[in-house]
Amino acid sequence: MKNKIRLFVNVDHVATLREARKTVEPDPLVAALLAEKKGADGITVHLREDRRHIQDDDVFRIRDKIRTVLNLEMAAVEEMVQIALKTKPFQVSIVPEKRQEITTEGGLDVISQKDYLRKIREQVQSQGIRFSLFVDADPRQIDASREVGAESIEINTGSYSELSDAGAIQQELEKIGNAARHAAEQGLRVFAGHGLTDENVISIAGIPEIEELNIGHSLVSRSVYYGLEQAIENMMQAIERGITQRSH
Ligand code: PXP
Repeated sequence: MKNKIRLFVNVDHVATLREARKTVEPDPLVAALLAEKKGADGITVHLREDRRHIQDDDVFRIRDKIRTVLNLEMAAVEEMVQIALKTKPFQVSIVPEKRQEITTEGGLDVISQKDYLRKIREQVQSQGIRFSLFVDADPRQIDASREVGAESIEINTGSYSELSDAGAIQQELEKIGNAARHAAEQGLRVFAGHGLTDENVISIAGIPEIEELNIGHSLVSRSVYYGLEQAIENMMQAIERGITQRSH
C-alpha cells in the first residue's frame, strides 16, 4: 500500500479570474509553475467545451513548460480527443460535462457507454497517454470502468464535500472507502477529487487505496487570502495528517 498521496493542483480557476476580464492575468501557467515549486506532483486542467476558463492555448503552454505532468480533464467528445492526441498530456481524465452546470455535477455513467469509452481509451492509450475515468463511489460504475480498460478511476468526492451532518459524512466516507477498496481489488489505481478543502481532505487521505488527489477551487480561493504557495502548504499538511490516520 502506498503511503504517499500525489497532489495534482487544478489551475482552472486561475483562468476563471483571467477570463472575467479577458486579459492575460492571472496566468494558469504561472500558477502551475508555483505549484510545482511548492511540491505539487502534477497539474490538472479541465478544457471545457464552452472554454469558460482554460483555453486551448493554456493546455499547450502548460504541457510545454511544466516539469511534472499534465492531467487533462475533458468530456468524451471527438473535439477533445483530437486535442488530447495533439497535446499528449501524461493522462486524460474523462468527466461528464453539461454546458449549464456550474461545475462537474457527478461521475460518469460508464455503464451506458462502455463501447464508446473503450474506443476513446484505445485512441488515447495508443499515444502513450494514461486513461482515467471520473466516477461516483458506485461499484457498478467501477466494474464498468475496468471493463472499458481504464488504468485508474477518480472517485467523485463532490457529494461528500457538500455534506454537513456528521452521520451523513461518515456514511459517505464509508461508501468512498468501500469503492476505493473495490477498485483496487479490480486492479485499478484509485484517485479522488472534487470539492476538497484542507478540512475535509483529511478523512479522504485516510483511505489507504487513494494514491492521487485533484484539488483546485479551494486552493485558488485560499490563495486570495494568503497566496498559492501557503494554500498548497496547508493542503499538503492536511493530506499528511490524513495519511497518518490510515489504519493499514
Ligand atoms: N476532479 C474532477 C474530475 C473535476 O472535474 C474537478 C473540477 O474541475 C476536480 C477534481 C477539482 O475539484 P475542485 O476544483 O472542487 O477542487
